[in-house]
Amino acid sequence: MKRIVTVLAGVGIAMSSFAGTAAAEQVELSSIVSKQEQQKMINVAHRGASGHAPENTMAAFHKGFEMKADYIEIDVQMTKDGELVAIHDTTVDRTTNGTGAVGSLTFEEIRKLDAGSWFGTEFAGEQVPTFEEILDAFRGKIGILIELKAPELYPGIEEKVAEALIERNLHHPNNEKIIIQSFNHESMKTSKELLPNVPHGVLAGASWADVTDEQLDEFAAYADYFNPNMNIVTHDLVSDVHDSGMRIYPYTSRSQEQALRLFDLGVDGIITDYTEHVYKHPVKNS
Ligand code: G3P
Ligand code: CA
Repeated sequence: MKRIVTVLAGVGIAMSSFAGTAAAEQVELSSIVSKQEQQKMINVAHRGASGHAPENTMAAFHKGFEMKADYIEIDVQMTKDGELVAIHDTTVDRTTNGTGAVGSLTFEEIRKLDAGSWFGTEFAGEQVPTFEEILDAFRGKIGILIELKAPELYPGIEEKVAEALIERNLHHPNNEKIIIQSFNHESMKTSKELLPNVPHGVLAGASWADVTDEQLDEFAAYADYFNPNMNIVTHDLVSDVHDSGMRIYPYTSRSQEQALRLFDLGVDGIITDYTEHVYKHPVKNS
């Protein structure tokens, strides 16, 4: 199966390398199987459809929904006065017209900021959304991959996230498609204790290229996903993650070539800024 998907990646080469009917059949077969592979691939709109709209705004999340991603990925942090908000950096400087650390600003201060103009004038006036707004707008419509961003800066954020999910009965997410992930693995252990029925993931940067089977087994004790930097993904890593009982959604694909490489490596999902590189005809819950 994986070999045939490779044929898709190199379809131009395949067409020129085979002769006559056999070549045509080979290409046709590869197209069919590749389409089936793509149907199974989980498509995660990174920070929303952030190739098309300003990351972590409602515009980006709506775009991801419109583009029929399976999940939107959101970065959750906490304001000075305890409001959960979606923003990637630990300061507001890059993605808004303000300055300062997220945790040093009140929600009222953050809410006044323009989180869209930096991306394009047509997005002027986009605000930093709250976690609860996102849940209320998208629950049951699209999966939500919740990243706790730098939770070590925000003591108690795991409890706040759990409360928001429990209030909405999203802590039994079999049909609601909620996943929580973080680079902070201790935070994930804490969160899993609070939300034992919610799938959790460990994010793994490039320094985890040589992760051992023992380490994967330790992760699998509380996590359902091992989501690594795409540059460290190999066939062996995918196989080892699967052997540990976890699934693997690498981040962050930003080109068609990167997405095709990840298809070929047999990952379960792809976290991408460009939903259109992954999406074909997703089959939910298959
Ligand atoms: O979903 C994983 C990915 O978002 C992790 O990297 O920096 O984009 O939050 P980052
Ligand atoms: Ca993220």
